[in-house]
Amino acid sequence: MCGIVGYVGPQSAQNVVVDGLRRLEYRGYDSAGVALVADGKIASAKKEGKLANLEAVLAADPLPTSGTGIGHTRWATHGAPNDVNAHPHLSDSGRVALVHNGIIENFASLRSELEVDGITMTSETDTEVVAHLLGREVDNGADIADALRTVCGRLEGAFTLVAVDAQAPGRVVAARRNSPLVVGLGDGENFLGSDVAAFIEHTRQAVELGQDQMVEITADSWTVTDFAGQPAEATVYHVDWDLSAAQKDGFDWFMRKEIHEQPRALADTLLGRHAEDGSLTLDEIRIPASELRSIQRIVIIGCGTAHYAGMVAKYAIEHWTRIPCEVELASEFRYRDPIVGPQTLVVAISQSGETADTLMAIRYAQEQGSKVLAICNTNGSTIPREADAVIYTHAGPEIGVASTKGFLTQVLACYLLGLYLAQVKNTKFGDEIAAVMAELQTMPDKVQEVLDAQQQVLDLAAEFADNPSVLFLGRHAGYPVALEGALKLKELAYIHAEGFAAGELKHGPIAVIDQDLPVFVVVPPQGRDMLHDKTVSNIQEIRARGAKTIVLAEADDDKVAPYADVMIGLPKVSTLLQPLVATVPLQIFACELATVKGHDVDQPRNLAKSVTVE
Ligand code: G6P
Repeated sequence: MCGIVGYVGPQSAQNVVVDGLRRLEYRGYDSAGVALVADGKIASAKKEGKLANLEAVLAADPLPTSGTGIGHTRWATHGAPNDVNAHPHLSDSGRVALVHNGIIENFASLRSELEVDGITMTSETDTEVVAHLLGREVDNGADIADALRTVCGRLEGAFTLVAVDAQAPGRVVAARRNSPLVVGLGDGENFLGSDVAAFIEHTRQAVELGQDQMVEITADSWTVTDFAGQPAEATVYHVDWDLSAAQKDGFDWFMRKEIHEQPRALADTLLGRHAEDGSLTLDEIRIPASELRSIQRIVIIGCGTAHYAGMVAKYAIEHWTRIPCEVELASEFRYRDPIVGPQTLVVAISQSGETADTLMAIRYAQEQGSKVLAICNTNGSTIPREADAVIYTHAGPEIGVASTKGFLTQVLACYLLGLYLAQVKNTKFGDEIAAVMAELQTMPDKVQEVLDAQQQVLDLAAEFADNPSVLFLGRHAGYPVALEGALKLKELAYIHAEGFAAGELKHGPIAVIDQDLPVFVVVPPQGRDMLHDKTVSNIQEIRARGAKTIVLAEADDDKVAPYADVMIGLPKVSTLLQPLVATVPLQIFACELATVKGHDVDQPRNLAKSVTVE
């Protein structure tokens, strides 16, 4: 969702900004633009559609050379994705250029105020209002940084704002509230970005900005203040992944690369989890053990794929800790007046650490006195920074919009949390915890086995490319896997797909089954007789109605084999850990089917990688 880049330095700002926007493409966008400060004027260009369209405009009508610039990829909220609504927006006099990520909630009243002042809006965006407010300030003699500070004081909602003033060459000013922004520190040059991908090819030194902070960069300085203009603390950190992590490495899609990185991502997330005495340790747990022992309830929140990771977690955490655990969509959580307090641990799962729904939910939970533990893949992002404890997933940057290694490592981190709580609360013996940890250590190899056998799934995707609808069923920890399989297919292939709990089949979904409908079924391992056998019965019910069954089960599962039109063999794992292997063929299926249909797998239509508005 909306990518932002800013630059001051000796290089061509246009090149740095456009390259940065390209690295942010994965966030999802529908128009793009740049603005430079040159010869006391703002020079800008913007265009609907992909970055290539903007580059064509820039090639046809070059902007003057400049070392000060800002750029934006827009994911439309207020107003259609067209040239006029694209950012940057200019102030009435053309002196200030502004890019924005977020939503200005009081924009209608600000707009009326400006219209009374005789300013005519040219776009339908909330952003243009802010550009005019800034213009009014600087035209009245304010410095651009002071102008931004004053205007921020009038804004409600979520925003990252980055602005340049034609009369302040060599300076870019920015402010953030509830939307992401990081500073990149170079040698004689400085950068701004929605995330570090924007400037990773230039520097790996970054500064995380806090809530309601402003930053001004010049070529050789950076200054962070709060909205009152007081100096503010900001943490410099080293970005521990390099440019190659954000490249496709010979794969045609980032998503395909990321699917294949999963064994490594799991192994990295498992690294360093044991203290010298063999007990389990986690990353940043700033909640005393005594407080964790008093936890009576866990509420897990997340959006999209992260929510499904939370559903898997519920089975494991309740089983190991006997602490009641609920899973809720972050977007629903705070609006239903949830009952949470000091004895509730809220677990927020977010790959990006910037999802607005999840961020608002954790703030609400903290206001009610709950402690919040974040499971996150992005160092320095807002959610882990505001949480009381963090477990980082070490998946490396996830660029494909549809989450894959993000999901698997989130599930793994949830297992680690469950085992850690079981250790703290003494609900499992040390050797029982060690046994699960030992099995977790085998999971990277088992996921690799599934990847090595992918050809069967690739063939299947080609076969089903024209099917208008696909059903996914699972029981127990296989149920969220079914939901995730359906979500992936919707996201990437744009076809109707539904996931159901297998036991619910006879309560409704069975009505849609006919011979044209492929049905994927995730079958629990054979050891758990009841679960397994009930799922086999469900498969028979499907077969009896002529549908084609694609069964994901242990490779030697003879009980289910007779009822499978296609059997995708899975390695042997225990029931609670099965999602780590069972999800992978479904990711491959969606990725391949979308490829066969000719879709852009990394940037599916209408979707954004990181949804920073509610
Ligand atoms: C968006 C993405 C999904 C992702 C969800 C939550 O909707 O398209 O792939 O699962 O956000 O993202 P998060 O970064 O909070 O895990």
